[in-house]
Amino acid sequence: MIYFDNAATTLIKPEAVRRAMYSAVGRLASPGRGGHPAAMAAAEKAYECRTAAAGLFKVPEPEQVVFTMNATHALNIAIKSLAGAGDRVVISGYEHNSVRRPLNTIGAKITAAASPLFDEEAAVAAFDKALTPETKLAVVNHVSNVFGFVLPVERIAKLCRERRIPLVVDASQAAGVLDIDFQRLGADFVAMPGHKGLYGPQGTGILLCGRSGETLMEGGSGSDSRLALMPEYLPDRQEAGTHNMPGIAGLLEGIRFVSRLGTERIARHEKRLLGAAVKAMKELDEVELYYAPDIHCQSPVLSFNVKGEDCQSVAEALAERGIAVRSGLHCSPLAHQTVGTYESGTVRLSFSAFNTEQEVWHFVRELKSIIHHRS
Ligand code: ALA
Repeated sequence: MIYFDNAATTLIKPEAVRRAMYSAVGRLASPGRGGHPAAMAAAEKAYECRTAAAGLFKVPEPEQVVFTMNATHALNIAIKSLAGAGDRVVISGYEHNSVRRPLNTIGAKITAAASPLFDEEAAVAAFDKALTPETKLAVVNHVSNVFGFVLPVERIAKLCRERRIPLVVDASQAAGVLDIDFQRLGADFVAMPGHKGLYGPQGTGILLCGRSGETLMEGGSGSDSRLALMPEYLPDRQEAGTHNMPGIAGLLEGIRFVSRLGTERIARHEKRLLGAAVKAMKELDEVELYYAPDIHCQSPVLSFNVKGEDCQSVAEALAERGIAVRSGLHCSPLAHQTVGTYESGTVRLSFSAFNTEQEVWHFVRELKSIIHHRS
């Protein structure tokens, strides 16, 4: 199978991830729940993983790295810590349902600072206009999971800092591919999955915390057990219940893999694949392609449609030929509304460090053949 659905999850992982998970089962117990060797080994592993993440994302203290189940879980903690019913919250026009749905659930008043695809200046201008003094929170998607548009998150963060508006960054598609400097960004929270660009297993996520936040879930923390409420300090405040130790052990190896290669090298490789796909696909009259004229504002996620064809049927035809892609709305109806693909959806390719240019060429041949057989 050629796997081009890495924006959903990177299916192919470094071998060390698999080994670490296997070795964690039966060896790592529960961090902070006992002084015996298996509990201590788990505590050390969790700390190693926090330290590796803090190093990669330039977070001052490892304790500011909180483990979650996924990016959605992390975003829920962040959003519900900072906004409540009736609060004005400004989001980009490219947010995922993991931002939109929690905000709607708490009854926040959402303003979408919508801006055209691959236009950084327009994105900054939209936030500049929308971030009024009444704004309680801003949430920005670093990279659109549908179109790969890299939003100018540092410039938007600067606007938020100047206006003292708390900021949450959804780094779901950015972590492991783009340089993220938590300290320089000055965001209150940055949420990310462990299982995409960080090559950890499903069931892992990370929340980088600039503050302790409100709890989403309460329970045992393995610390200050006499307290009636969760401790105030991180990471304990946000980590109720037993940790996913096989997941954390795998995630540590994923982060080590990314740190060893470096995000710049990973991005360069994936962009080469993106460039090859764009070059070949834009020659096809039957294909409607959503690509950035200036490749620096597109991460290796590429949406397209075959004119006159339903995106689902194109994805199914590709799957029959052994190519895995995702089609539809990608849990991001807002991004599709912004770009005008809400009715049609798109077919999405998303690359990882393990994809090759040969795979891109094979995909293009199969796509041509699908188009040829249908015309
Ligand atoms: N949000 C993930 C995707 O884009 C699951 O596919």
